[in-house]
Amino acid sequence: MSSTRSPSPRAASRLLVVTDVRAIDPAIGLDALIDLVIEDGLLTRAGVGAATAEIRASERAQVVSGSGLWALPAFVDLHAHLREPGQEYKEDIASGLAAAAAGGFAHVCVMPNTRPVNDTRSITVAMLARAREVGGPALHPIGAITMGQKGAELTEMGDLKDAGAVAVSDDGRCVTNSAVMRRALEYASNFDLPVIQHAEDHALTEGAQMHEGALSTRLGLRGWPRVAEDVIVARDLLLAEAIGARYHVAHVSSLGSVRLLREAKARGVKVSAEVTPHHLTLTDASVLGYDTACKVNPPLREQADVDALRAALADGTIDAIATDHAPHSSLEKDCEFAEASPGMIGLELVVPLLLGLVREGALPLARLVDALTRAPARIVGLAAPTLREGATAEICLVDPARTYTIEAARLRSKSKNTPFLGRTVTGAVRMTLAGGRVVFDAFGGEG
Ligand code: DOR
Repeated sequence: MSSTRSPSPRAASRLLVVTDVRAIDPAIGLDALIDLVIEDGLLTRAGVGAATAEIRASERAQVVSGSGLWALPAFVDLHAHLREPGQEYKEDIASGLAAAAAGGFAHVCVMPNTRPVNDTRSITVAMLARAREVGGPALHPIGAITMGQKGAELTEMGDLKDAGAVAVSDDGRCVTNSAVMRRALEYASNFDLPVIQHAEDHALTEGAQMHEGALSTRLGLRGWPRVAEDVIVARDLLLAEAIGARYHVAHVSSLGSVRLLREAKARGVKVSAEVTPHHLTLTDASVLGYDTACKVNPPLREQADVDALRAALADGTIDAIATDHAPHSSLEKDCEFAEASPGMIGLELVVPLLLGLVREGALPLARLVDALTRAPARIVGLAAPTLREGATAEICLVDPARTYTIEAARLRSKSKNTPFLGRTVTGAVRMTLAGGRVVFDAFGGEG
């Protein structure tokens, strides 16, 4: 593990006051212009006139004018790759958590495809120890389903949960063997751990570079057909239903999966699903210039898929938004398309990318907030950040009108692999509190 230390986060200045802010927390039916008072890490008061003249005048108070800003519960990411241990040149826990803080996150669930794979207690424990040393947003390891993510021998899931894992997944690889998946669902349900599937029939995607369709033919790149995702989702839904286990689909990308999920939920199957900001905002047309930043797994699909994903997120068929933050260095990206590793970073770009959907009318703001907070927390059994009085302060302040250009130099992530560099966006995170502490503060001049 790397030994760099990030600056320790500031305690919530003992007294942090946000005045006249639009506070939005759909979990408690809140959308109002109020003041917030945060004392010793707790949201002690939230209401009209809560920041009295006396409180504002206190010497210990940091007063932030919330005029024009939104206060939201801080976000929960179900799906990030922080690359530590093993590939710290791409990202490490310190840089990954710094990026998460800048993106508005108080909690980050991290995938086990590290080197070595997080398939044993000792790796889970080491990740948690490193995260505690770093401070900032809370890190929650996801353990592997199978040893080495090889798809054969199940991990000791009880041990992983006991060490702090919140779910199991072989993300990056699919559990394709039906008998292994059946046993995984049965075994995980003993520990109430959700099984997160990377739905990809690898036999159907061998050598695939992008979505299979007219554009892959035109570009001469081997295609990844939608049905490779759909067949796994269909099979897993049948298994989960038969077993009564909790099943979660990672990075849903196809309209077929959406149809299957909608039908399974109507039947009462215990299934949940996530979608990424990039699958909600980009199509396979982005690959036209052979831009390796647009190579992701599952691939960017067609407008019909994007429309289906947006509708499914809006109506709750897809529960949560997850970043699939997948940092890769220029070594893996500045090369021929076929050689490039799949993935793009995402932790710092959720607000600027997704507020656009709200402005277009594609997604109600309350649903966006729910999909970033309460819904993902419920899936992995975490207490959701909330703006309820008395709660630990886990809050994100957003300036919905701030316009800026996404620049590599301003991203905290070690890797800069995103096709959104140079894009002018509107909507910025200005402050994040996690675990009662300020973990990101753009008002201090760093943003
Ligand atoms: O694009 C992706 N990148 N998809 C995955 O499933 C894995 C991830 C990674 O680890 O880079």
